[in-house]
Amino acid sequence: MTTVEPRPADPGVEIPDALVDVALRPEEFPPDFVWGAATAAYQVEGAVAEGGRTPSIWDTFAAEPGRVRDGDTGEVACDHYHRYVDDVGLMRELGLGAYRFSISWPRLFHRDDGVLDPRGAAFYDRLVDELLAAGITPWVTLYHWDLPQYLETAGGWPARDTAGRLAELAEAVGGLLGDRVGHFITLNEPWCSAFLGYANGIHAPGRHDQAAAVAASHHLLLGHGLATQALRAVAPQAQVGTTLNLYPVAAAYDSPEMLDQVRRIDGLHNRWFLDPVLLGRYPADVLDDLGPLVPDGLVRDGDLETIAQPLDFLGVNYYTRHVVRPSAYPGTNAAEFTHRGLPRAANGWEVDPAGLTETLVRVARDYPRLPLFVTENGSAWLDEPGPDGSYVDTGRLGYLASHLAACARAREQGADVAGYFAWSLLDNFEWAEGYSMRFGLVHVDFATQQRTVKASGQWYGRFVQAARELSGGARGAEPPVGDDILRP
Ligand code: FCB
Repeated sequence: MTTVEPRPADPGVEIPDALVDVALRPEEFPPDFVWGAATAAYQVEGAVAEGGRTPSIWDTFAAEPGRVRDGDTGEVACDHYHRYVDDVGLMRELGLGAYRFSISWPRLFHRDDGVLDPRGAAFYDRLVDELLAAGITPWVTLYHWDLPQYLETAGGWPARDTAGRLAELAEAVGGLLGDRVGHFITLNEPWCSAFLGYANGIHAPGRHDQAAAVAASHHLLLGHGLATQALRAVAPQAQVGTTLNLYPVAAAYDSPEMLDQVRRIDGLHNRWFLDPVLLGRYPADVLDDLGPLVPDGLVRDGDLETIAQPLDFLGVNYYTRHVVRPSAYPGTNAAEFTHRGLPRAANGWEVDPAGLTETLVRVARDYPRLPLFVTENGSAWLDEPGPDGSYVDTGRLGYLASHLAACARAREQGADVAGYFAWSLLDNFEWAEGYSMRFGLVHVDFATQQRTVKASGQWYGRFVQAARELSGGARGAEPPVGDDILRP
């Protein structure tokens, strides 16, 4: 067992060896390492009809019976729109150095008329000011999946015009916040927006059209390029990057057809996004695999130059590895996802920290010279309160510690991993899983909106504070923490 020393007010925490098999020390991270937590607008804000906000595709989708587990919606979520001052206070208590959040597009632009609503703008203005006053660096994601419904009605991401609309949002947000925000992320996980949204329909807008999904992926990437240009124009001093969800893809067993499956899945999940953004081309083998799903005229002259704008950093979201085996139907080239027998989180995802190291090292090797930020990493567990109301979430704590160690291993192997954002600050609306999957460092009672910092959050806060104190950058009244927070 590995023990985290308790503070007087904290529960002691025991971490199963299976989850943490490495020692982890704050000194393994450089002084300027960015320590943060992340959320996304639709998952936390609530207040879906306030300030004139109109529906996003997630409001529409969640309102359709059977789309989201238990019929949950983001109508109230964590009520962060009203409680952001307290939530920033929580981050400050934890000692976080940075907060990654996203902009609700339909809160700023209610209709297809290009008119920015000052009430929506004021919310993000206040949030940024509150963060800065608390000494927390804001990291702003432009698009984390909540497309305005009016843009979906006009064709959504499969329509080329939507890319230009993202650039308009970028110009507006850059103009609004660029004087105080130094880090912008254009997109969150465009693979999910395109393929979960338009091909298998488990995410909004819930369409089942493979060609539309491929078109969506290209237009999301084009939107990234155009948005980057727009941000550079209005906020020239800001750092701009994008966030991809990247996973090592492994074969369930060795066989020639399995190797081809691995190539295909890796191609579509990883290289289809990495190559155009960082190398200015689509991977030839994936273009072959997709065949007629990439019609003439989808990728126009100049698109790839636009997509491959020089970036300041790449955001990497990692949760688990993809393990593939051939589908149960002989003769098809479909793949199924399976497991490797590692411990699994509540949503079935295997706890596989080595996969994070591999991902970071691979990106650093194949797409060199870009600082990497882990912009999301975390796990869902069925948190039960103890008799005293505390949440001793050993699974999440073990996941967190072992994945921070995975970042340190990647750094040792030469990857320029410059920051880490835990997913998530708060339990929140987990898309198609509704409120059933809790990823927060902070427990949210959705009936009362009461927040309770879980053991994982306490541990992370102490680790971050220790790391920041080593670098001379810590704030707050906490006593110094030794370098043996997590002892083998
Ligand atoms: C990622 C999403 C994020 C959250 C986590 C669990 O794919 O970007 O919003 O839902 O998964």
